This record gives sequence, C-alpha cells and structure tokens, in this order.
Amino acid sequence: MSGRYVVRTYGCQMNEHDSERIAGLLEADGYAEADDLDGADVVVLNTCCIRENADNKLYGNLGHLKTWKDAVPGRRVVVAGCLAQKDRDTVRERAPHVDVVLGTHNVHRTAELLGSVESSGPVTEILEEAVVDDEVLFPSALPVRREVSHSAWVTIQIGCDNNCAFCIVPAVRGDEVSRPFDDVIAEVQRFADDGVTEVTLLGQNVNSYGRDLQLARRRAGDVDARPRPLFADLLGAVGAVEGIRRVRFTSPHPKDMRPETFEAMASSPEVCEHLHYPLQSGSDRVLALMHRGYTAERYLDRLVEARSTIPDLAVSTDIIVGFPGETEDDFERTLEVAAAAEYDYAYTFIYSPRPGTEAAEAVDDFIDADVARERFDRLRVVVERSALARHEARVGRVEEVLVEGPSKRDPSVTSGRTRQNKLVHFTPPRPLRAGSYATVEITRGAPHFLEGNFVELLVEATHRTRIPVLSL
Ligand code: 5AD
Ligand code: SF4
Repeated sequence: MSGRYVVRTYGCQMNEHDSERIAGLLEADGYAEADDLDGADVVVLNTCCIRENADNKLYGNLGHLKTWKDAVPGRRVVVAGCLAQKDRDTVRERAPHVDVVLGTHNVHRTAELLGSVESSGPVTEILEEAVVDDEVLFPSALPVRREVSHSAWVTIQIGCDNNCAFCIVPAVRGDEVSRPFDDVIAEVQRFADDGVTEVTLLGQNVNSYGRDLQLARRRAGDVDARPRPLFADLLGAVGAVEGIRRVRFTSPHPKDMRPETFEAMASSPEVCEHLHYPLQSGSDRVLALMHRGYTAERYLDRLVEARSTIPDLAVSTDIIVGFPGETEDDFERTLEVAAAAEYDYAYTFIYSPRPGTEAAEAVDDFIDADVARERFDRLRVVVERSALARHEARVGRVEEVLVEGPSKRDPSVTSGRTRQNKLVHFTPPRPLRAGSYATVEITRGAPHFLEGNFVELLVEATHRTRIPVLSL
C-alpha cells in the first residue's frame, strides 16, 4: 500500500507505545507519515477509556472526521485501542464512517485490516483475550516508529490481575502476562545498539513482573524456579546493558512494592531516583472499597523505607477524589497522607464511573460534582505546596539533564529532564541536540518545573532525532 497516515493518541504511555507500533507497521507496509490531517489518507485514533471525558473527546473527533473523510474519496478512518476494545458496537453506531475498529490485542494486524477494506468494506476485529504468542502479545517485536532516538519504551508486562473497583483496565487489557526476561533484555540491547540511552519499562503492575513466568516454570516441574518476583533482577539487568544511562519504570502497585525493588534501584546507578507510587486515596475505608490491598499507614511506611534506601528519591502519585461514598472525613485523610508523602508531583483525578466496573454500580453513593471539584482543588493546593518546596530545595544543586529540545513555550530556551524526571529549562551557549546530556545548576524551582544555568556538556547526541522504521 502507499499513502499518508496520521496517528492520534489518547491516554497513557502504553497507548503511546502501541501508536509507535501502529506507525511502524504502516510504514513497513509502504505508508509515510503526513504532516497534518489535510495531507493524510488514513487517520488512526488510538483511544483510551480510563475516564469518561476520553470517550466524549473521541466521539467529538470522530464527528469531525466524517467531514474530513467525505471530502476526498478513499480516505480511511481507523479506531484502535482501549475504547475500541470496550465499546466496539457504540463506535460503529455513533460513527458508521469508521473503516476499521481494532482491539488492544490486534495491533499487529493494523496494516492487513486496512488493506482489506478496499475489497471487503468496513471491518471490526477484537480479540477478547491475548493470544499466547509473544510476537502478538508483545508487539514490541513488531516494527516500531519512535519519535525520539534517545529514549524508548519497553513493554515488560501486559494486562492486570488486580480488580481496583474504579478501573476499566483489566477489562480492556486482559490478564497479566509477563514478557520473557531474555526478550526484554534483547530488546533493550537492540535499542542501546541503536543509540538509545534511556528506557522506560512499561506495565500495569510492574513489581509483580515475572510472577506468572515463575509459576509456569514450577508447574512444568522446575523446582529451582525462585519464588520471588523478578522485577528487581530485571531492573539491574536492564541497567547493566552497555550504553543504557537511565532506566525508568511505570507503574508499580504499593501492595506489591518490595524491599528488593528499592535495593535494586539503589544499587543500579542507571535506575533513576524516581518512584511513581499511586496512592488513589488516603482513607483506609475508601482504599478497602477500592480493593487496593494496603492501608495508608502501610503505604507511608513503605515510602519511608524507599526514601531511606534510595538517596534523593523523587516520588509522584495518582490520586482519585470523589470515589463513591467518599466522605469529607475520608477526603481529609487523603489530604493528610498527601501532605505527609511530600510528593514531587501528582496526577489527580475526579472519579469517573466506568460502566462494567464495580464502583460504577454504586450510583446512590456518587459524589456531587461540585463537591468533587472543590475537593480536587483543595488537593491540588496541598500537592503544589510540596512540589514547590521540593523544587526550591534543589536550587544551587548541579543536576544531570537529558536534553529534550527547545522549550514548548519559548523556543530560545532548551528543556530537558533530570534523573528525578523534573523538567528543567536552561539556555546553553549553543543549541544542543535532543538526546545530549549536560549538567545544569538549578537557580529556581516552580511547582511544575525548574530553571537553571548550563554548566557543562557531558555527552553530545550524534543520532538523528527520528528513526523511521526499526524492522527487527
Ligand atoms: N476515575 C478516575 N480516575 C481513574 N483512574 C483510573 N480509573 C479511574 C476512574 N474510573 C486513575 C487512577 C489510575 C490512573 C492511571 O487513572 O488514579 O492510577
Ligand atoms: Fe487498574 Fe488497579 Fe490494575 Fe492499576 S492495578 S491497572 S488501577 S486495576
């Protein structure tokens, strides 16, 4: 096939990574990326369904795409991702002009399905469960088109075996399956050979990585299969790959957080001093209703342990306000825990009922929208207070920064990330390529970023900033 495509991504890093594969597959099939919608023949919307506004946004955009499609014969619309998986019929009903509806386990078939539209008309393909075939399960083994050359995502696990009462992810991403250890390392090695210096390991519940692999080995009679999960070992092994300077991961679950993980973070110099540690609520009563499997006290105890094991650790979190039945008292517990945790940043959400999840049934306990909004604003104040304090405390320090490129707000300024994942704006004496490493002395801390003065160039990136297709 030939033609031009655009991929629009909604939602999380997992989706962004899937979009890289969709783009890679289309390019392997002869398509090229279009600069904008006007220049495109194919639009792929890679959708998210974690909160309701994601749905609304998608249906709005699909409406506009009808006009786009009708303007030029032969234009195609593809809807992929979590919302397609969950609501294929609604997508079809509300947007009959969609040519391909593709589930989360069908990414590898994107180009083929698109190719079949010509002869067979619109197509929907959704697998209810992942096929146990590593090629398909971990489509990282497919061509991938990455936007930046120095940084890459690596899927280590798909699906989720938890059943948090608010969350739709297990329904759309299926059971937890770990990617074989050696395959992860081999992919990291290939990336490193290609000039990547930073990898982010992706999974819904990364610290239970390997549990299923160990279980399978023991079932097969391997008595030596160690009972402990493999995530700590994986962190160390990824960090040890030649050329890798930074290892990140997201997301762990507080109930499965183990000392081995903290120790691996502390002992591998490549693993960055940043922990994303989702709280969700500070009230034990709400945590129990959510089925989170920990109390606020245990959460904070583990945080103390993490901070004492890993020097200079930055901590971020996810918090939901307005969970069904959340009282003012429950919410105040959340404020207390958030203040005690002294987060560097937090993603905060107003609870959004997802049909099919347990919490969405508790209609009588839904929290009034104004109350939820007011709690949300109060929580932001607490989080921003600790973020600002922690950022101001870095003034005067010299930090290693991985250059991302010109700042979005002011292109004369360069932006990058510290090991703690903080955005830093600074002005080097000459433009630095994305992927370069420099040291920067921090001069100012704001709630969402740092500012600093360039000190020294550590590594100049030699790579181009785009890799069209990496065929494996
Ligand atoms: N409503 C609001 N926030 C949600 N999240 C997941 N499901 C919901 C929901 N139904 C948040 C959680 C999770 C993050 C990725 O999204 O905080 O950690
Ligand atoms: Fe959703 Fe809970 Fe699984 Fe995270 S751990 S993906 S919040 S069910």
